[in-house]
Amino acid sequence: MTWDTVKLEWSDDIATVTVDRPDALNALNVETLEALGEAVGEAGANDARVLVLRGAGDDAFIAGADIAYMKDLSTTEAQAWGELGHDVADAIERFPAPTVAVVDGYAFGGGCEMAMACDLRIGSESALIGNTEIDLGIIPGWGGTQRLPRLVGEETAKRMIFLGQRLDAETAAEEGLFGEVVPDDEIDDRAAELAAELAAKPPFALRAAKDAIAQGYSDVSGLDYEKRTFGSLFGTPDQREGMEAFVENREPEFQ
Ligand code: COA
Repeated sequence: MTWDTVKLEWSDDIATVTVDRPDALNALNVETLEALGEAVGEAGANDARVLVLRGAGDDAFIAGADIAYMKDLSTTEAQAWGELGHDVADAIERFPAPTVAVVDGYAFGGGCEMAMACDLRIGSESALIGNTEIDLGIIPGWGGTQRLPRLVGEETAKRMIFLGQRLDAETAAEEGLFGEVVPDDEIDDRAAELAAELAAKPPFALRAAKDAIAQGYSDVSGLDYEKRTFGSLFGTPDQREGMEAFVENREPEFQ
């Protein structure tokens, strides 16, 4: 299959999925999010030994869910949008082989969440990452409220989510969000090297290790709660003001 805004490329058994919407800093609209899910599914169905997830260009991994699209969603529509994002993040998290997010540039909101659904994260020195949804009057809606505390601890996750912090790469590594940080011009080589190293490991044992680690996080009630709460915020004065302010390129004024 081919898609307009997502690419799936192969190098031996390594599948690379690239979100390719650089004009919107690879923000995920419906078409792109659906394509991302399909590309991940196709990579899994074709027995990828490693999945690499990245964004096109040097500016962004994924700048988040598409705010212009989300701005006028009803509660019901937002619920469906949240479910779709959860489905894609879950598909990445449950991918039957190791997954690596290559974060070169911005990874905010839904972009941060897709990176956190991956097993490993490499950041470039200029990367910025965070669950920044609060400034849009909403909460992380694709698993961030559950995966972020798991990675960085509860206090740090609350600081990041409550304040909408955008962590630089060095801080993200200190907090446990990036496993490693590399110079901007070395990130592609490092990603290829790490993917090749993973692809050479025994696949059944790797999958067993991944599944065993996942068992410790098998309680999905938090994810379900987040899905419902995310949708319920649409139509509130917070969400309307937060997203209108972004589209109008001004600071929000919350009541
Ligand atoms: N949704 C929709 N469009 C987005 C977007 C998003 N999440 N992030 C960026 N874009 C678009 C901008 O609207 C702009 O489009 P335009 O050229 O048609 O006006 C284009 O991408 C470039 O973004 P711009 O804001 O001009 O670039 P910048 O370098 O000044 O700032 C960011 C980059 C990432 C800091 C800024 O775009 C931003 O804060 N984006 C929103 C991040 C966010 O809150 N994500 C969470 C969503 S859940």
